[in-house]
Amino acid sequence: MMKKTDRHFRFLAKLISPNIRLFTEMVPAQTIIFGNRKLLQFSNEEKPLVLQLGTGNPTDIHQTTKIPEVLDFDEINLNCGCPSPTVQNGNFGVKLMLNPEATRECIRALRQHFPDHMPISIKIRLGVDNLYSYSYLSDYVGMAIQAGASIIFVHARKALLKINPKKNREVPNLNYDWVYRLKNDFKDTQVVINGGIKQAQESTIHLSKVDGIMVGRVAYQNPMALSDFENRIFNIKKSQKLQLSIVDKYLEYTENQLNLGQKQQKLVLNLLNIFSGQKRAKEWRMLISEQSKAERINLEQISNKAVEIHMTNNL
Ligand SMILES: Cc1cc2nc3c(=O)[nH]c(=O)nc-3n(C[C@H](O)[C@H](O)[C@H](O)COP(=O)(O)O)c2cc1C
Repeated sequence: MMKKTDRHFRFLAKLISPNIRLFTEMVPAQTIIFGNRKLLQFSNEEKPLVLQLGTGNPTDIHQTTKIPEVLDFDEINLNCGCPSPTVQNGNFGVKLMLNPEATRECIRALRQHFPDHMPISIKIRLGVDNLYSYSYLSDYVGMAIQAGASIIFVHARKALLKINPKKNREVPNLNYDWVYRLKNDFKDTQVVINGGIKQAQESTIHLSKVDGIMVGRVAYQNPMALSDFENRIFNIKKSQKLQLSIVDKYLEYTENQLNLGQKQQKLVLNLLNIFSGQKRAKEWRMLISEQSKAERINLEQISNKAVEIHMTNNL
């Protein structure tokens, strides 16, 4: 998620949910071709890691494969669902869903230029504006599979071109049935469902119908929820001390990254919602926000506060 799932947030997410498969933010192909490679940085602990590319241009795709860092990812995902005005102007993201021919050419280029061991996937919506029928969706997915995509991530609502990205995640209704239907119609292809999934319990029904679930907003609004998903899906017993050990490990990582010159604010703010929904969460958020801007960060103070809050919540 752009501006959210940066490399540091992904490190945190992986601490919370070791079995998670993480995505980069959408990385516009042009950005990396013209030399800005920051979004391609990651730590090995984040792997397996999917690079999500934003492009509608097969030539750009060919160019990206000449960037060595790109080949270190485990999967390449083509964004066919982002409705932001800038992305629409660049004729990629959701614009690809209006243009099956361009999508086909991009997927073919991805499959042709990336090594065989890297799966090619796409992330789509159910449709766009009035182009909203199961037959269009199913033809589009069939075309993508033929062209070389082996995993289809589906945000289970259509996109509306005239409303902003935030509203585009709320206004169009969710329609999980079409995603289930896709799996039924393309049994040999992995289908992953996304959109509005907030609680770990919801994963049971989805996973009885499709191959995987993808969560977006809940990951940064309440990162510890990722451990509920992990525990439920992989049948792991909940550990009482998990939250504390995560905070400590992340603080250790923060210290190392600060020494490597990474930005304090970005690193620290990822901890903002770690006690979301728990007692004294506001007090925690205030400390984190203060510390994110402090001239000299006090990691010990953060660690001690985490212990206090943990004790309050586990009396
Ligand atoms: C701040 C923000 C940034 C996002 N950036 C991306 C992105 O870079 N690529 C992408 O495929 N989806 C992006 N999304 C959409 C999410 O991946 C997801 O499809 C959407 O939020 C619905 O899932 P959710 O209900 O679990 O949040 C973003 C969403 C948010 C809230």
